[in-house]
Amino acid sequence: MDQVKWNVGVIGAGVMGERMMNAIRTHEKFRVAAVSDVSAERAQEAAQKSGDVPWYTNYKELLKKVELDVIYLAVPPKFHHVIALDVLAHKKHLLCEKPLANSLTEAQEMLEAANNAGVVHAMNFPLYYQSVFPELTRRLEAIGDVRRIDILTHFHQWPRPWQQTPWLAGREQGGFIREVLPHFTHLTYELFGDLHVVHSEVDYPADPALCETGVSAILHLTDGTPVTINGLAGIAHEEHLDYRVYGSKGTLSVVNWSNLFVGGHGEALVPAEVPQQDRLSLLLDELSIAMNGGDARLVTFETGVKVQQVLEALLGHEKVHYIK
Ligand SMILES: NC(=O)c1ccc[n+]([C@@H]2O[C@H](COP(=O)([O-])OP(=O)(O)OC[C@H]3O[C@@H](n4cnc5c(N)ncnc54)[C@H](O)[C@@H]3O)[C@@H](O)[C@H]2O)c1
Repeated sequence: MDQVKWNVGVIGAGVMGERMMNAIRTHEKFRVAAVSDVSAERAQEAAQKSGDVPWYTNYKELLKKVELDVIYLAVPPKFHHVIALDVLAHKKHLLCEKPLANSLTEAQEMLEAANNAGVVHAMNFPLYYQSVFPELTRRLEAIGDVRRIDILTHFHQWPRPWQQTPWLAGREQGGFIREVLPHFTHLTYELFGDLHVVHSEVDYPADPALCETGVSAILHLTDGTPVTINGLAGIAHEEHLDYRVYGSKGTLSVVNWSNLFVGGHGEALVPAEVPQQDRLSLLLDELSIAMNGGDARLVTFETGVKVQQVLEALLGHEKVHYIK
């Protein structure tokens, strides 16, 4: 007998919306039940791929007309707040893309609305759901006292070649500080607890409409352990991301999202085996558990607010460096 599936309403059928819909379409516990995008072409195409489900250019119509269990929200960040509040007013469970919002106040209001609605609220931070996370956690003990964490995010092109969408190039809601760094500050929060920004220096181009080209920042964990951020766009080598934890007895490094390297004292860093699993489908597994009232491993809006706090402090530029 077919298992009953949760009905997902997707709002935003862009790059990430399409990725998530691919995971939903093949998941045993969810189905795409309706799609909304301000682009009729995208909404219609995604709806067709999902088995000719209803599609709308206005998300309010989707919320009114279709029986949905959960909404997946994948629109650009400055629209998260207004749409999420509407979704929560309809008391639908909500899976929201990162960053939670476009300001700390918006993020806090979304958390409050989600708590008041009494629904499941979750965010998509893929690093947390993939197998590299438990592997990192397991190996932390062996590296001794953590001396420092270095987060390096270098891009030869921003926006990245696969994500050519104008909002990502703009200062209002784009840039890699908003788009990529939350993944790594969130990972740090999950592994080591709260962190706060001590100093952040952001490089901007002269054109005020364009997003940053660099960031150098220092943060502290609550025990004072330093976390550094070295972010650059427009460098002359291929994109490179490295999340590195230096311990007194060993070093752990996650390169380009999912490749784990480990090294002991005086040793070279060597690749470590990590099972590769579909992280979006693992996230959907957890979401289904939570929607059934179970104890699930999800990133909630509460954590999203903490990540937003760090994000806003990074962008709060104690010093701004304008590039010629
Ligand atoms: N978790 C991840 O790994 C990850 C990766 C990429 C992007 N994201 C996040 O996903 C979100 C979307 O990013 P993207 O790369 O898919 O952007 P995108 O520009 O490719 O897609 C956004 C889509 O939203 C649509 N849209 C805009 N306003 C809308 C509205 N009011 N109602 C309905 N649709 C609307 C646009 O037409 C577009 O199709 C962002 O928050 C981004 O930060 C997350």
